[in-house]
Amino acid sequence: MIEQPIGVFDSGIGGLTVVSQIRKYCPGEEIVYFGDTARVPYGTKSANVIRQFSVENTRFLLKSEPKLIVIACHTASCLAGDYLRRKFPGLTFLDVVRPSIEKALAVTRSGRIGLIGTPATINSGHYQRLLSSRNRSVHIFAKACPLFVPLVEEGWTSNSISKKIAAVYLNDFKKQKIDTLILACTHYPLLKKVIGRVLGKKVELVDASEEVAWQVKEYLRGRKILKENGARKIRLYFSDCHAHLKSIIPAFLHGERITIREAAFPAQAGRGKLCTRL
Ligand code: DGL
Repeated sequence: MIEQPIGVFDSGIGGLTVVSQIRKYCPGEEIVYFGDTARVPYGTKSANVIRQFSVENTRFLLKSEPKLIVIACHTASCLAGDYLRRKFPGLTFLDVVRPSIEKALAVTRSGRIGLIGTPATINSGHYQRLLSSRNRSVHIFAKACPLFVPLVEEGWTSNSISKKIAAVYLNDFKKQKIDTLILACTHYPLLKKVIGRVLGKKVELVDASEEVAWQVKEYLRGRKILKENGARKIRLYFSDCHAHLKSIIPAFLHGERITIREAAFPAQAGRGKLCTRL
């Protein structure tokens, strides 16, 4: 019998935070991941380009016949999620937006919710619209934090520079008296400590990676297609296997050791080599 994996894509390596959680919640499932490292970041690109890339990423994952596709990238979830659902009507796409919103609404006491993400995510207004349509009385305070992604990619998750940048970005939230902050970007869970230090313990940080993994499990269990005991196989594909990749991946997979191998190039993704780990 062919094993149908869970497909996951992201603009780069950040979506591995979601992979790591899916492995925790669905330990029997096989996962195929595509990270578009050749074209990251998506967070500063236009909606049309983000949609086009997301279609190509989906086509690449379709070769593995996934049982569903998780859009781990918040930028792609906001700008291309509905577009992908229309373009591939037979496929199930779960994205990171709804689970984050549900969690934020469940934990907020004051209804004052902060939202941080890439410029494309924040400017799309997608989170804000969905939050208000779910609950009209919440107050949303949104802020794009473009420097957080390169900080994490550089591995600077808790040094003095990341602390200073976090303070500059997040200080307004203190005045706005939020009690919940949605981390609407794949990279931000790695900055939880620094963010928590700026905002204090009373502000609940909503980490979508955990929420979406739980939703994947519920989805599979509901349809009786959750594999409890599998080979735990995981394949990671990247559109550019640059030298930095090997050193940075373990942080996203919580230290899990991996080896990267090059694989044949898929027709639709449009570029040179891919890396894979089996
Ligand atoms: N994966 C993106 C997100 O979650 C962050 C990196 C990028 O800008 O592509 O929004």
